[in-house]
This record gives sequence, C-alpha cells and structure tokens, in this order.
Amino acid sequence: MAPTSSRIHPVSEPARTSRLDLVQRPRRNRKSDWARRLVRESALSVDDLIWPIFVMEGKATRAPIASMPGVERLTVDEAVRAAERAAKLKIPALALFPYIDPTLRDPEGSEALNENNLVCQTLRAIKAEVPEIGLITDVALDPFTSHGHDGLLDDGRILNDETVDILVRQALVQAEAGADVIAPSDMMDGRVGAIRAGLDEAGFTDVQIMSYAAKYASAFYGPFRDAIGTAKTLSGDKRTYQMDPGNGLEALREAALDVEEGADMLMVKPGLPYLDIVWRLKEAFGLPTFAYQVSGEYAMIEGAIRNGWVDGDRIVLEALMAFKRAGADGILTYFAPRVAERLAAG
Ligand code: PBG
Repeated sequence: MAPTSSRIHPVSEPARTSRLDLVQRPRRNRKSDWARRLVRESALSVDDLIWPIFVMEGKATRAPIASMPGVERLTVDEAVRAAERAAKLKIPALALFPYIDPTLRDPEGSEALNENNLVCQTLRAIKAEVPEIGLITDVALDPFTSHGHDGLLDDGRILNDETVDILVRQALVQAEAGADVIAPSDMMDGRVGAIRAGLDEAGFTDVQIMSYAAKYASAFYGPFRDAIGTAKTLSGDKRTYQMDPGNGLEALREAALDVEEGADMLMVKPGLPYLDIVWRLKEAFGLPTFAYQVSGEYAMIEGAIRNGWVDGDRIVLEALMAFKRAGADGILTYFAPRVAERLAAG
C-alpha cells in the first residue's frame, strides 16, 4: 500500500520499497576518507623510490630529451645537485645511466672499462658530496658500443661468455669507483654468478647485485635509447638475449638462476605491462623485488598529462600504487622526485 506522500513525490516510492536484504555491503568500508585509509592494503612511500638519472660530459648543463619531456641529461656537477635534491627528499637511491660521447664508442665497448669514464666520475663526485644516498649502476655495454648492443657482436650474434668476462670487469670498475649496487641489465647467461665471484674475489663482498632477472625485449625502451643515444645506432634488435613478451614461466626460471647465482634483489622490466611477472617472482622467491617503470611508460603518462588528458598527480600515484599492490618492494621511476615531493606535501 503506497503511503499518501507518494502522490506528492511519486519517484521516491520504488527506492523505498526495493531495499536489498544484504549482510555484506563492501561499500561500508569505502564510505569516507578515514575508512578508506584505515583499510588500505598497500602503501606507497618515498622509501619505495629509485630515481634513474642520465649523465653526460660537460659542465653546468642540462639537456632535454625530446621523447621524455621533463627528463634531462645532466653533467656530473648537475648530477650531484640532483643527488642532493634526492637526499633531501629522502629518496633512498639513484640509478645512473650514461650518455657516452659517440667518439668514445667502439665495437667492444672498451670505454666501459675505463676507470675514469663518465659513470665512474659521477660515482666519485656524488659519493664525495652526498655519501648518504645509494648508488646503483647499470652493467651492460650498450651505452659504450658503436652498435648499441649490450654485448660483443660477432657476425650478427651476441657472444655470451666473452661478454660476461667484460661485464665482470665493468662491475669491478664501478665498484672501485663507489657503486653500492651493481645492476646487470644485459641478460647474458651466467653473468650474476660471474659478477658475484669477481666482486667477492676483489673484496667487494658488501656490494649488492640487483639483477634484471626478467627483462623483456620491449618497445617501451624507445625513449631511453634516445636518452643514451643508441636509438639510431642499434643494429637489429635485442631479441636473442632479452625475453620474449609471451613468456611468464621463463621469468621464473631466469629468476631462479639469478637467485642461485647470488642476486640480492630481483627486478622486472618493463613495469606496468608486466605486473603479473612482478607478482609471480615475489611469490616464488620472496626476495626484495623491484619493478622498472621504463622510459616508454613514463613518456605515455607524461605525454597524456601534458596534453591535459589525465589528472597528472593522481595517475602517477595510481600507477606506482599498482606496483606495490603487485608485491614490488620498490620502483625505479623517472617520476621519483616529483612523487617524493608530492608525498612529502601530504
Ligand atoms: C640497457 C638498458 C635499457 C634500459 C635500461 N638498461 C634499454 C635496453 O635494453 O635497450 C631501459 C630503461 C628505460 O627504458 O627506461 N642495458
């Protein structure tokens, strides 16, 4: 029987008579900001951030990278300023990537073994002025080779074992210059074990290895190759050493080998398109596991932000939260300083 008021407000009648008999109403826990904060399962903090930076020769110069708007290559003195900014923001660590002068590149990547190369200069300069920040260096030959590959090239093939010998020496040169964490991104077989043995033999038993355990042959690296100047020189692709995007179980096998060989931390790369891999590695090994939100991911998000198509603050935090939800302990992200500032502002 309809109440008399229904004649005055006829639309309210169905709403009042159709209440569901629900015991579980998940929306209760979302009813207000305090409730949402209280039940939130994952949290993002500044402690989760690793900031990758690009360095180049010269003084007091920052050079924009067209495909990574907002990211610049920095001369060593500017890299020290960036490290100071990062330390002030409490970002735990930086990852260094060099733009090597093209005249210094050769087929063997010999500049990688120069103990005064750009990476080593940057390591020493930051260690001297900002000793409290962690420094992670990339082990791979691509910034140093004229052909842009991560290893030695012989008649179109990337040589594995010969490359590993050089990578061990590259890691030692970096450790000597002050690297805290060696991050092999080359995907040669056996390199983690060889680098661990080399470091230990030279007395660098405390230098950690963050292994790019599952690194896929990805189009998402495009802007990075602009940044380090290998986009134009790269001959062919990296599919004979980087992983096929269709494979998930293979990531578990790759990671198992790296764990056996002495990796202290694992990394998955790219990030967002490979969240399932982050989850699987964390579940399987329980090691500190990182995701690299790579240059192409940055470019897509930043491009949309700059066009006003998405809400910049929210989309970046949401993407980084996704990594945490997937089990990542931390994220390498070009957004690191901006996010740290945002988090500090509350
Ligand atoms: C190369 C290396 C790459 C990246 C990190 N180390 C590119 C590649 O394998 O070609 C990509 C990082 C990014 O795209 O942000 N050893």
